[in-house]
Amino acid sequence: MQFTITAESQGSRVRAAEFQTSRNVLHTPCFMPVGTHGAVNGITPQILLDMGAEILVSNAFRLSEHPGKAILSKFENLHEFMAWPYTILTDSGGFQSRLREHAITEKGIQFYDEKAHEIWTPEDAIDMQSVLGSDFVMPLDICADLPTTYPIAREAMERTLRWAVRCKKAFKARPGQILFGIVQGAVYPDLRQQCVDALEQIGFPAYAIGGLNVGETPQEYLATLTTTTALLPREKLRYIMGVGRPEAMLEAVNAGVDIMDSIIPTKYAREKTLFTYRGTINLGKNRKYRKDKYPIDPNCDCYTCRHVSRAYLHHLYQTTTTTAHVYAAIHNIHFCVRLLQNARKAIVEQRFEQFYAEFMNNYTNDD
Ligand code: GUN
Ligand code: ZN
Repeated sequence: MQFTITAESQGSRVRAAEFQTSRNVLHTPCFMPVGTHGAVNGITPQILLDMGAEILVSNAFRLSEHPGKAILSKFENLHEFMAWPYTILTDSGGFQSRLREHAITEKGIQFYDEKAHEIWTPEDAIDMQSVLGSDFVMPLDICADLPTTYPIAREAMERTLRWAVRCKKAFKARPGQILFGIVQGAVYPDLRQQCVDALEQIGFPAYAIGGLNVGETPQEYLATLTTTTALLPREKLRYIMGVGRPEAMLEAVNAGVDIMDSIIPTKYAREKTLFTYRGTINLGKNRKYRKDKYPIDPNCDCYTCRHVSRAYLHHLYQTTTTTAHVYAAIHNIHFCVRLLQNARKAIVEQRFEQFYAEFMNNYTNDD
């Protein structure tokens, strides 16, 4: 398990690195497709391998609900269960509290659903990730909904730290597994600082930046991103949770982030929104694509763009043929994976600033 910085930009935090996991080498910056339930919606592992994905993200809490720990225990690990040979990062369930009714106590998170869960504790999150054999393990954390008050943000951050200690105690690493520290603290720089200092004290080999894209303003988001990456030690991997719009991905790279994940590419695929180097296009609703024989993006070398036209995809969307989602997901994920591969190349060749400016110049979302 080794993190090696390959190239750094002069006068900024931007870097390219290699991270050797027990399965493969991650070439960072890199995008991580998300398969919450152990599959990236509409896509098989072989397709992800073909497009150059090196790591996937899944969710330990959701997998504990279904198929559940007992069934997953019968498999060697999640890699075997889902037939994905490379690195897997699993989230802990901390973020799920944003989406569901719940109550948080010192013991853990109580979700109120049709299934009426037991309390999901920091120890449960670690235990489940041990069963999954996750290479990158996330502690259970509290992601405060924004806007919030300073005292509430501080309480959530401090509880996250106490849970981080419990998670570290419960974590019995299999060879190659590492446990991340998650930085919380909402939009308050001093809370982010206290959180990073405390996580450094506890001792973690890599960091996740959480608590962003949860209701803050764009200005607060960028300020928090840049202050937080500036607080993190240079020689450890940095992961920003939940960033997947192309312009936001490059902004994160520009701030010194190494890895990121998001459901946006697959969600957009279902909503008929496709990424292109000139911005997003909506192939479903816009009649101008009816006779358009071009691929989604003439500069894209994905399977979809090499084989089918916008007119064909428009037709599939119009007739609610689910193959549209498959083609679109392949393109959108390929686009994100390739974008960060290209960003990496630019960093290594010391021209990232120019690459970023050029991308932003061309990228205008017009529908
Ligand atoms: N995914 C996006 N944001 C977060 C966060 O703050 N915590 C966790 N655990 N997952 C996330
Ligand atoms: Zn494409």
